Amino acid sequence: MQIFLDSTDAELIRHLAATGLVDGVTTNPTLVAKANRSMIDVIVEICEAVGGPVSAEVVAAEADAMIAEGRKLAALASNVVVKLPLTRDGLIACSALAAEGLSTNVTLCFSVGQALLAAKAGATYVSPFIGRLDDYGFDGSSLIGEIRTVYDNYAFETKILAASARSVAHVKAAALAGADCATLPVALFTELFNHPLTASGLKQFMVDWAASGQTI
Ligand code: G3P
Repeated sequence: MQIFLDSTDAELIRHLAATGLVDGVTTNPTLVAKANRSMIDVIVEICEAVGGPVSAEVVAAEADAMIAEGRKLAALASNVVVKLPLTRDGLIACSALAAEGLSTNVTLCFSVGQALLAAKAGATYVSPFIGRLDDYGFDGSSLIGEIRTVYDNYAFETKILAASARSVAHVKAAALAGADCATLPVALFTELFNHPLTASGLKQFMVDWAASGQTI
């Protein structure tokens, strides 16, 4: 499963990408707004920080304007993925941009029906939002498995990009369900490394090793 960072902090992205475990980045208008910098500058900097796909989201509501914004974003760097909302106009724009050979990420997906349409529109990625479904009492993780079944039933090539992940449990569920990718907030990516039993086990190894008086 590919792991993306859901972040606009290029310095943090660079730092974590140095692990060799970061396959790409996703952004959204809220994250860019919080960065308090121009979308163009943010995306260019992130694309320089990682070689993998970087999702940059259009903000227009009409298909023609989305297509124009998408072309502009895609021209920033070869690894830009144009992110489009899962709306009627977003899917029209997705089909048009896909026909031009551009990579697309259809986002704000909350149902199998929506994911089916994203695949039919030729989306490179679809982003089902696990956490936000959970926030409303639905089982977000189960949606990943349902989309996986439908995509496999019809050999759709669209990649399932599990998004809105809130916990290590979400990452586990997405991986078990067969998501192609998951995008994680920086804090959650860091949390993936950690387990209390690893820390305590390593501490005891070091205590016992020190007592042995040996060196390697
Ligand atoms: O950026 C896409 C998605 O991961 C955002 O999720 O619910 O944490 O805003 P959320």
